[in-house]
Amino acid sequence: MKEIDGPGSWEIAESMERAIPWGSSTCSKKPRLFPDEPGAIVRGRGCRVWDADGREFIDFRNGLGPVTLGYAFPEVDAAVRAQLETGVVFGHPHPLEGEVAEMLIERIPGAEQARFLKTGGEALAACIRIARCVTGRDRVVQIGYNGWLNALAAGGVTLPGREGGGVGSPPPGVPAALSALHHACPWNDLETLDAYFTAYPGEIAAVVVAADYATMAAGATFYPALRERTERAGALLVLDEIVTGFRIAVGGVQERFGVVPDLSVFSKGIANGLPLSAYVGRRDVMGALDRAIVSSTFGGETLSLAAARAVMRVYAERDVVAHLWRQGETLWGNLNRSFRAHGVNAEVRGFWPCPALTFDGPDRAAVRERFLRAAYRNGVSLYDVSYVNFSHDDAAIAEASARLDAACRDAAA
Ligand SMILES: Cc1ncc(COP(=O)(O)O)c(C=O)c1O
Repeated sequence: MKEIDGPGSWEIAESMERAIPWGSSTCSKKPRLFPDEPGAIVRGRGCRVWDADGREFIDFRNGLGPVTLGYAFPEVDAAVRAQLETGVVFGHPHPLEGEVAEMLIERIPGAEQARFLKTGGEALAACIRIARCVTGRDRVVQIGYNGWLNALAAGGVTLPGREGGGVGSPPPGVPAALSALHHACPWNDLETLDAYFTAYPGEIAAVVVAADYATMAAGATFYPALRERTERAGALLVLDEIVTGFRIAVGGVQERFGVVPDLSVFSKGIANGLPLSAYVGRRDVMGALDRAIVSSTFGGETLSLAAARAVMRVYAERDVVAHLWRQGETLWGNLNRSFRAHGVNAEVRGFWPCPALTFDGPDRAAVRERFLRAAYRNGVSLYDVSYVNFSHDDAAIAEASARLDAACRDAAA
């Protein structure tokens, strides 16, 4: 049954292609696998979404990460509705801003102070500005994707999953002089990192790190090494916890691996899909904000803050993180068994709350496409990094596992 009167899922996608570059304001949302992939999603509830043709999918894209509790999660939606009754933004601070800041400070090891913006990328840009102000240095080493406005290094990652190389020219649209201050470093590559510290002694303000999904376990040795080297060089360690926070642990990789950064950013996961990012850190470092100005009209917007408070209350009452690990282990373990049983050259790797779907072999692009198409046809929505949420109950995981087993059989045929 169609969800809405009017054009179908791919007709909508085609008309959006005409009105919007990429057909979407978020590059990674652009639908590509016509006709199997949904062209446009119109509704979500719990762990399921529906496209404009009325097709239902058990969803593991979860808004590309931020939906940790589930679509239309009752407690969060009630909190947003209640806040809407009394106002969204004001010309003075609203108490929720302080309350949510305190809640983050209680939960995040490296947070002595917190401040809010709307997107992960701009919060990381704020951290970079703070780091430059505190150290009086200009250069920044970046590991992984840190949002479009920080994708400045030659050979850096310009979109999630779009490989960076470490050499080459600045990304299109980035001035060479600006790009020259940003240096891309692969995950878990201390040799490259050390080479930057050697090449630019006393010049590196910060190392900004987003974990690699497939090999996140390497963080056990990589994060302590980063901490030690940044301290030795007088640079700040900035952790991008945009995906890892409130997923692998409430306090992200810093909690998991016991490494306290100078600054970090949390975003996806803290408000179940409402637009909110928090940059948090040591009090003395955050103190640089009296000189390095960061300010935005929507920084204390109350609907997202009300959602964040509701999310943190749910996390406190129920063990959401344990659920994400447990359900992820069951689902992705089942899928890995299906891959092997049907001879699909693929594997889900990494930490169960946010693992990477990896494909091996010379025809990996073709296998990836065949498998993702088959998953969509069988009613499962996946991405290169896929996420379980708190609404994926045992029945949904069993149903998704069966659908994905059928998808593996179809992809292998
Ligand atoms: C690890 C990581 N860092 C930064 C970002 C950028 O966040 P935003 O898109 O909210 O600017 C993303 C978004 O996908 C991300 O996955």
